[in-house]
Amino acid sequence: MLPIVGAFRPWTDPAQVAIGRLPMTTRVVESGDISLDGEWNFRLFEHPQDITADAIGAPIGEGWGPIAVPGNWTLQGIRDLPHYTNIQMPFAGPPPALPARNPAGVYRRTFLAPVRDAGARVLLSIGGADSIHVVYLNGEFVGYGTDARLESVYDLSSTLRDGENDLAIAVIRFGAHSYIEDQDGWWMAGLHRPVSLMVRPSVSIADVWLDADWDADSGRGRLQVQAFASFTSIADGWAVRVQVSDAAQTPVADASAAVDVDHEITYQFTDFASKMDLAGLDVAPWSAEDPALYSCRIDLIDPAGVIVDSTTQRVGFRRVEIVGPDLMVNGRRVWIHGVNRHDHHPDRGSAVTVDDIRDDLVQMRRHNITAIRTSHYPNRPEFLELCDELGFYVVDEADIESHAYNWHVCDRPEYRQAWIERVARMVQRDRNHPSVIMWSLGNESGYGSNHDAAAGWVRRADPTRPLHYEDAIRTQGWIDGGRHATDVVCPMYPTVPEVAEYGRAVAEGRADRPFIMCEYSHAMGNANGSLADYWDAMHAWPGLQGGFIWEWKDHGLRHADAADDRLHYGGMFGDAPHDSNFIADGLVSAELEPHPAMTEVAWVYRPVATWRDGDTLVIESRRAFTDLGDLRARWVVSTGDEVTTGELEVPDVVPGSSVRVTLPDLVRATACGVFTVTWETRSTTWYAGVGHEVARDQMVIGRPVFNTNGGSSLPEHGVLAGPELQLWRAAVDNDGFKLMLERAAREAKGSPRLQRWLELGLDSGDPTNYVGYERNTADGIERHVVDVPAELAGLPRIGVRYELAPRFTRMRWYGRGPGENYADRNRGSMIGIWEADIDRLPYLVPQEYGLRTDVEWMELVDTATDERIRVETVGEPFAFSAIRHTATALYAAEHSADLCANERLILSLDAVHRGVGNGACGPEPHDEYEIGAGRYTLEYRIGG
Ligand code: GAL
Ligand code: MG
Repeated sequence: MLPIVGAFRPWTDPAQVAIGRLPMTTRVVESGDISLDGEWNFRLFEHPQDITADAIGAPIGEGWGPIAVPGNWTLQGIRDLPHYTNIQMPFAGPPPALPARNPAGVYRRTFLAPVRDAGARVLLSIGGADSIHVVYLNGEFVGYGTDARLESVYDLSSTLRDGENDLAIAVIRFGAHSYIEDQDGWWMAGLHRPVSLMVRPSVSIADVWLDADWDADSGRGRLQVQAFASFTSIADGWAVRVQVSDAAQTPVADASAAVDVDHEITYQFTDFASKMDLAGLDVAPWSAEDPALYSCRIDLIDPAGVIVDSTTQRVGFRRVEIVGPDLMVNGRRVWIHGVNRHDHHPDRGSAVTVDDIRDDLVQMRRHNITAIRTSHYPNRPEFLELCDELGFYVVDEADIESHAYNWHVCDRPEYRQAWIERVARMVQRDRNHPSVIMWSLGNESGYGSNHDAAAGWVRRADPTRPLHYEDAIRTQGWIDGGRHATDVVCPMYPTVPEVAEYGRAVAEGRADRPFIMCEYSHAMGNANGSLADYWDAMHAWPGLQGGFIWEWKDHGLRHADAADDRLHYGGMFGDAPHDSNFIADGLVSAELEPHPAMTEVAWVYRPVATWRDGDTLVIESRRAFTDLGDLRARWVVSTGDEVTTGELEVPDVVPGSSVRVTLPDLVRATACGVFTVTWETRSTTWYAGVGHEVARDQMVIGRPVFNTNGGSSLPEHGVLAGPELQLWRAAVDNDGFKLMLERAAREAKGSPRLQRWLELGLDSGDPTNYVGYERNTADGIERHVVDVPAELAGLPRIGVRYELAPRFTRMRWYGRGPGENYADRNRGSMIGIWEADIDRLPYLVPQEYGLRTDVEWMELVDTATDERIRVETVGEPFAFSAIRHTATALYAAEHSADLCANERLILSLDAVHRGVGNGACGPEPHDEYEIGAGRYTLEYRIGG
């Protein structure tokens, strides 16, 4: 049994949050950390009660193996694997019931007592233990902690001995608090964040609170400092000195104040703290666009004038406030161009490195993402340091989600302390970061008295930032609900009309809170339909300020023991119950490869938009603080075969406003084709080199006219089969969950559309049995006329399919590109002449992919012989895809790794193709992207 705590089993008790843990503070110790990361000894037990006292104190013997810290033990070849669930718990409840098998691992290592001055203290920092940890030093109990995603610090001083010390940390996979760590994600286990020792002088800086404000009216900054000293015995005559300097080390402010120790004077004592108010500072403000940082050195000085402890904190001067229905930064309204981000790496799981985090941020900014919700827990402290430095607005979210028991746990008094602790400890740790613009009370935990208790604490402790909590408005209403727990209306997955309706309520004075969607546009598989429609609404109505796309990255995981290196989703580790591929719902793959929807993301989040208004061009800056001087604008007029380009002269554009410039003469003189304006970086930035395109807009002048080569014959043996009518597409996740069909129907999850298609037999039936179909061929022109009866409205596609020889490996076309695009996700894909290799499946679970819309002509080229197959419309533009799989093969495969490249190239030509929508977790495609009843005609000339 675990010494001391084994008898009490605190992990079964929701009310028990920690024993012996020091209060959370901002990060005051940067240097002098002694890392304990690396290889530890490890032994896994089936249950915490199985851990023997020997495992804690006796020499390491049989049954022990090496393990990496930080790391998830579930990814290190030990007989305990990751488990994926979304809402449901991985074991039976109700709270606080725990599973019979509850793996518990003991981590052991030795370290030498650090060299230190007399009286110095040695602290142990556990960056994050998933989920519960118990600390022993030299066999003696030190402390106990919960809260898997925040640091726990213990004072080892009284147990430490000279020379070698034996540290044991027992980590328990599940506890009563698992019910509030029920986020949609992998259940992992282990010491997944760094472990270190800190040597602290006997009198030291305990904590520093920096409230760095910036006033837009005066253009001045103000820094209010509270520095706390920790005394082992209280003494007079101590002082704190604060020196603020800019990035070039130029001093900005300097002040000193005594540490208050007058605790014996009735009513007077506040804390062992120095408080300073440095006002009227001539400093540059911090924003995500221009993240000006200052450094603030804080020295603790003893009565003899000797500096005994110092810390350097980075400071960004900025003010976050809600004014009317707007969330303002430094007096300006900012757009929330956001994503939700989990800690995830395909090999390291949740144990991400600082480089992993930076890689995420670089990829985000390359696609104009400037805001992040830390769904659904605080990240490593380095994450916020990077956001401060690189410029991101962050909604910092507490590690609380009780999704499976939404309406229960949030009102249970035994969980109240955990609620307050998780929220408060996050604020205590992160309050100095300028990037944090809101505190979130957690995710999907209902709305109860525990939330209000936590909200009350934050409102008092940090009145400088608004609160965010989705369930408060979901349960009590957008207009006036949940005000105690949320200052913003932050719904998830609303429809575009709902979004616009809230904007109307603001316009009519019926709603007064900013509207920032905590989640929207669910990126599962081939998805993110209507992104541009959401943003049309955002720009049309007041009070609508953006939101956070769900989610940044797929959570595919490699399995150390598997035969191949395929990325796993739920169920593939033998985990049950599970929620299958609902975990592969990112804008980028687990390997950080952008999915095609990222083109649309970059477009809706572009910092500058351009459109034509008669003979002028309107240029609108969507930045709030910086001008457009860092960007070069070019224009392109493309009439189809001819392309003319020029540089656009751009006058100064005041951030947040627009200007009009004269349209290039050529545009007025041109009758057909497209006019495109692009904006690219003039110099190298931290996320991209010179010439990186940050924005583009296109205006259609008129349909182009092409010099057809009409009539030349098709290459011999080029077309192997077809054309055949095609109505089926390999369902995308938003059509329905092919891997969870029966369950989705039973629990009414996801879109029911796939279910309906399968009932009709569309996946295997002869398509001509469903619709009226007529085909005419004359003079090399193919005409397909399809009549869709009313009861069949909502089909996947209407078109034809050819099977071609595989030797055609390049495609060229005039239409939207270069990447895959769909009717409701193509506004960021420009019309032009594009050329590309045959697409590979970009999604983890096989499904429809590779479409190009608004196509006038397309060619497939055999690069060895230069032979080609050319299709050009003689009617309306069409959509096409040319891929190596049939819809049937794509639909049948459960994993991208199981998909074999076809012997043939499958060319699909569609008169219409259903939008991708958001049906996996949100609204279906809007009506204009659905295929209604009626007549559809596909007419084209096909030749060589
Ligand atoms: C939301 C939830 C996320 C995720 C998403 C679906 O309801 O907050 O954590 O589960 O749905 O992928
Ligand atoms: Mg959830």
